[in-house]
Amino acid sequence: MGKVIPLAAQILFGALFLLTVPSDCVATGDAVEGRNKAQPCLTCHRKGNVVLGEKTPIISGQYQDYLVKSLSDYRSGARKHQVMNELTANLSDKDIEDISAYYSGLKSRLSNSNHDNN
Ligand code: HEC
Repeated sequence: MGKVIPLAAQILFGALFLLTVPSDCVATGDAVEGRNKAQPCLTCHRKGNVVLGEKTPIISGQYQDYLVKSLSDYRSGARKHQVMNELTANLSDKDIEDISAYYSGLKSRLSNSNHDNN
């Protein structure tokens, strides 16, 4: 019986640990602000799997840190694409984090998009 409480305590602390760790790993960014800031982007990068053309990547549901990296690289010119370079030139770090938080939180239906996988 004496061992029951320590075990329960271990489970409890284990659960708390699991609950607290992810929040330390998640990138920051305000998805609500990001939604406003992303309005010009939605012309091309629409929600879900609706795309303008096959050369416009779907970014809904993409990992947030990937989006932050891509946008930072376009802004610095490390990644070259005229349209994206111009569109990111005036974004702040906070803008990039917010927009990335917004897009990464959108549902991606990439896995059942136009691939014929029936
Ligand atoms: C005029 C259409 C257009 C607009 C507007 C636009 N993009 Fe893009 N975006 C593109 C195209 C085309 C590419 C592919 C560029 C390349 O080949 O590197 C791209 C690439 C990207 C990528 C890289 C995706 C990947 O899979 O690597 C991200 C992230 C992105 N755009 C975010 C944004 C954000 C955020 C905005 C608003 C600030 C925005 N885009 C506005 C057309 C657009």
